[in-house]
Formats: sequence, C-alpha cells, structure tokens
Amino acid sequence: MPSPTSIRLLVAEDVPQVSQHVRNLLSMQSQVKLLEVLNDGSKVVDSARQLRPDVVMVDLLLQGKVKGPQLIEKLRDSGLDIPVVVLTVPQHPLSRDPARGIDAVLTLPFSGFELVNTLGHVLADRQARAAGACRVISVFSPKGGVGKTTIAFNLAVCMGQLGVPTALIDGSLQYGDLRALLKVPSDVPSILDLPTDRVQESDLREVMWRDPAGIDILLAPPRVEMAEMVNARDVEKTISLLRRLYQAIVIDTPTTLSEVTLGFLDACDIVLSVVTYDSTTIHNTIAVAEVFNSIGYPPEKLHYLINRADSSGGIGKEELARSLGRRPEFEIVSDGRLVVQANNEGMPFVVSSPDAAVSRDVRRVAQTLLGVSQAPVPARH
Ligand SMILES: Nc1ncnc2c1ncn2[C@@H]1O[C@H](COP(=O)(O)OP(=O)(O)OP(=O)(O)O)[C@@H](O)[C@H]1O
Ligand SMILES: [Mg+2]
Repeated sequence: MPSPTSIRLLVAEDVPQVSQHVRNLLSMQSQVKLLEVLNDGSKVVDSARQLRPDVVMVDLLLQGKVKGPQLIEKLRDSGLDIPVVVLTVPQHPLSRDPARGIDAVLTLPFSGFELVNTLGHVLADRQARAAGACRVISVFSPKGGVGKTTIAFNLAVCMGQLGVPTALIDGSLQYGDLRALLKVPSDVPSILDLPTDRVQESDLREVMWRDPAGIDILLAPPRVEMAEMVNARDVEKTISLLRRLYQAIVIDTPTTLSEVTLGFLDACDIVLSVVTYDSTTIHNTIAVAEVFNSIGYPPEKLHYLINRADSSGGIGKEELARSLGRRPEFEIVSDGRLVVQANNEGMPFVVSSPDAAVSRDVRRVAQTLLGVSQAPVPARH
C-alpha cells in the first residue's frame, strides 16, 4: 500500500452534490490529496498531463462535450498511464476492466473508507505492474495430449477468479485448440490480426476475445497454414505489451520446440511442464529439460505438474521424482467424466464444478504461482 498522504487525486465530476460528497469524505483523512475537481470532461486529459495525479476519478455519467465513457477512453489512450477509478450509481452497474481503462469502480453511496481503500489498491496494483509483477506462465509439454490446453484454460480462469486481470494466449498456432474448445467463430480476430512491425496496446485490445469466464484470450489463426505468418519477434513484442495490460498471462504452448515456441518460452517467467505417468512423456520431458538447461533457463523457471496424478500406470511417485531430478511442484487428479464433459461444453470445470478435486488442484496451482493464499485483491467492483 502507498504511504500516507501519498495519493494525489484528480476528479472529473459535474454534479455539485457528488463533488461535495467526495470533498467531505476526503476532508476527514490525510492519505489522499485532492488536486482539482473538473466539471468539464474536455479539460481532464490536459489537466492530468500537467498535474500528474496518481489516480483520476471519473463519473461515468459525466455530461458535456466529452462524456464519462469517452473520457475514460481518452485517458486510456493518452499514454499517461494513470489509473482511473470510475464512479457510478446502482442504476448503471459497471465492472472493473483494466483493459478498457477502468481500474476500479465505486458505486454511490460509498464511505470514506471505501474511497481511500479503493484508491490505495488501484495505485498499489499499478505500482506492482510497473515493477514487472505480471506473471507469464507457459503451459508446456514435449508430448501431445497430456492436458496442456485443459490446464491452461482452467488455470487462467482461476487466476481471473482470484481478481487478477488475466490473459490467455493460444500459442498452439497451427491447430488453435482454444478456438475449438470455446467454439469461437472463425472470423473472430487472432494474433495474426496484429500488425507485424509495431504492435500497439490499442491493437491488442481489439483482437482479444473476451471470454464469459472473465478472462481475455488471444486466439490462434483460424487456419493451419496461417501459423507460418507469425514469427518469434511478433511473439516477444506481443507478450511484452500484454505484460503492461494484465497481471497474469497463461500461454497454451505447442509441443514442438520451434523458433516460435522458444519465443513463448523465452518470454515467460515460468515454464509449467506438464507430465503424465507415461514413459515416453517422461523421457521427452527429461530431454527437453536438458535443452532448457543448455540454453540458460535458470532451474527455478521450470516447474513440473503431474496431470492425472492418480493414474500412475505402475510408475511410482518416487521413481518419477528420481527421473525428473526433483519432486514435481504440482499435481492434478484425473476426472474423466467432469473434464471431458466440461471441455465438450466449452466450460471451465473450475467454474462449473468448483468443489471437485480437480478444480481444487488447479486452484492451488493458480494460488501458488501468483503467490497468494486466498483472494489476493479485495473485491473492487
Ligand atoms: N485431469 C484430467 N482428467 C481427465 N481428463 C483430462 C485431464 N486433463 C486432460 N484431460 C483430457 O485429456 C485430453 C487431452 O487434453 P488436452 O487437449 O487439454 O491436451 P493437450 O496437451 O492440449 O493436447 P494437444 O497436444 O493435442 O494440444 C482431453 O480429452 C481432456 O479432456
Ligand atoms: Mg492442446
């Protein structure tokens, strides 16, 4: 949390009673300094550029030449990188949506405690992100069919449920498993719709598929042969931009160690290597771990996850740990009925059956990778 008296606030509000309410609440504390209340939306971006507030608060119902929603968009696209708290009324409910420039929502009437708390959290979030706190996780295996897509999707949804703005990338560019899993129409944009030379944040926002489960997905191209049009540099640039928009990024990575796959793996913080109790999978996993070591990935970048951990097929846990050279960090149990049915319906099982053992296992992975024990961010909707 920021230290006391550290939050400098600029407010865009044209209803005198509401600005008075905010002034009254703030007069009773010393952590937030109110710089200015502007009732003209067209002046806010210039004023923010001049005053450099830590947070801007915008009334969604702001009237005039530049109305609330337009102002939120202008602030987002201004390049100022100042978090925005949107003020609304119960009749106009709104959800927090950092990718659209809405870092938090305050619904009237709110208390001074809620106001100061929300501003503090928004600022702390932004500072954490500026410090590179976004976690990028590649779900990888050198063997097909071990559960990468299933785990990547459910893991990303869990992270979203924990209140962490999360993006999921379908890095399996040739087959685009996620498009099929989620039944996304083939005309929905993909990573291919990003300009190859200079990708901007605004380009990214336009191509992300907003999944009903609360995460944003960057899809793979709709046709197999199109995958060739994406190169490792595009991948690197895309991830570095997404890092600025999200706090967690999960990548469903293909099995082949191509230049593009290595682009994903190089750019991530954690390679979550999915293993099953199957001798060829274990063999290939060890071989690829040697490659990672030889190209200089630090050992802590690699984490092992045993999928279908209760189907050991005669291979002992200790034997697997010995082969891998260490104890796997995570385990996910098998649940054929639930997982296959959820996948066929395009539903994350962590949402449809949150209490199932398989869902609890995935949630544990999400919490550990994000370094949280429970919900990390208080509800700010
Ligand atoms: N923990 C689990 N319990 C039961 N079934 C599972 C589990 N994990 C994955 N599966 C099933 O295994 C199959 C393969 O999963 P998935 O498609 O996620 O693997 P993949 O590694 O992405 O495959 P590919 O290499 O083809 O991309 C699917 O039918 C899925 O429903
Ligand atoms: Mg897959």
